[in-house]
Amino acid sequence: TYVVTENCIKCKYTDCVEVCPVDCFHEGPNFLAIDPDECIDCTLCEPECPAEAIYSEDDLPESMAHFLELNAELAQQWPVITEQKDPPADAEQWDGKSGKLELLER
Ligand code: SF4
Ligand code: F3S
Repeated sequence: TYVVTENCIKCKYTDCVEVCPVDCFHEGPNFLAIDPDECIDCTLCEPECPAEAIYSEDDLPESMAHFLELNAELAQQWPVITEQKDPPADAEQWDGKSGKLELLER
């Protein structure tokens, strides 16, 4: 599966959702999650993310390992998103900031 990681939080550019052939992105208030049971590893979303927040499970850095389970959990709770929308107005300011996991809204 592919995994959305920390840098998506408060950036949420949503370019990723347009290319997913199986509609497995789910939208929360300030983060997106991929449903690991639906993802077919097509690879298309990874290069689309301007924040470089998407990783293959196989390339997931150890520091982001916990995002695998978090995606699975949140994808169950949030609705599917298939169309790109405007990012938050301050998305650019948050791009690359560390410590964003604390700011995740559920
Ligand atoms: Fe969707 Fe493909 Fe990305 Fe999986 S790898 S989330 S199937 S676009
Ligand atoms: Fe998030 Fe990147 Fe998609 S910032 S919403 S994973 S395009």
